[in-house]
Amino acid sequence: MPATATPLRIVQITDLHLKTEPGSLLWGADVDAGLNAVLAHVRRRNPAPDLVLATGDLVGDEPLAYHRLRGLLETLGPPVYCLPGNHDFPAAMAQALRGGRVRRERYLASGNWQLVLLDSSFPGSPVGHLARGELGLLDTALATRPDLHTLVCLHHNPSPVGTAWLDTMTVTNGEALFAILERHPRVRAVTCGHIHGEYAGRRGAIQLLATPATSVQFKPNTPDPQVDNLPPGYRWFELYPDGTLQTGVERVG
Ligand SMILES: [Fe+2]
Repeated sequence: MPATATPLRIVQITDLHLKTEPGSLLWGADVDAGLNAVLAHVRRRNPAPDLVLATGDLVGDEPLAYHRLRGLLETLGPPVYCLPGNHDFPAAMAQALRGGRVRRERYLASGNWQLVLLDSSFPGSPVGHLARGELGLLDTALATRPDLHTLVCLHHNPSPVGTAWLDTMTVTNGEALFAILERHPRVRAVTCGHIHGEYAGRRGAIQLLATPATSVQFKPNTPDPQVDNLPPGYRWFELYPDGTLQTGVERVG
């Protein structure tokens, strides 16, 4: 790696499940304590991230919590790009999480990289689904800039992760997603949240990643939800101009 190859630095936070009332619990986990610990850790990163991705379940079924969330995200420093999950309210989110450093853009390009942020939420259901417009956004981005390396972000896992109860909510049309991705050799990775745990797999040359929640953690490979006593966490990315993607998870005790 040449010394001059400065990467694009990204942090992904996910599954905040913030409630209106500070100190609320989710499966016994204090969601504010977890989120605040993660945000403090992200603030201390050196070098600082260029941008932050917040990939859904930003609130826990309480739309009024977006206002509190916005205040917390504004303190991070870099711009924060937000996607909804199955516990979000896309309309309320669009109203509350806009302006300042909190962004709703779905497409970003920087240097040799592009990021496509897909909304996999499906109204009234915990299941993931990519509407025709979402697949069109992706297809257009990849067709327009085939020269760029690509990172795709969404809330739901696009393919099963081996945890039976979570795999009932996998993106229902994940194969339509992969049919697009696999036509483009510069798609490097797909990253999601939703499973409240760390995951790394592959689909051909494409890395499939999931990122721990800032709130409660769930054990992998279980038939029913089981709380894992791992601490909250987040994922970092370094995207290099030659297409190299380095990534890792930080657990914040
Ligand atoms: Fe979640």
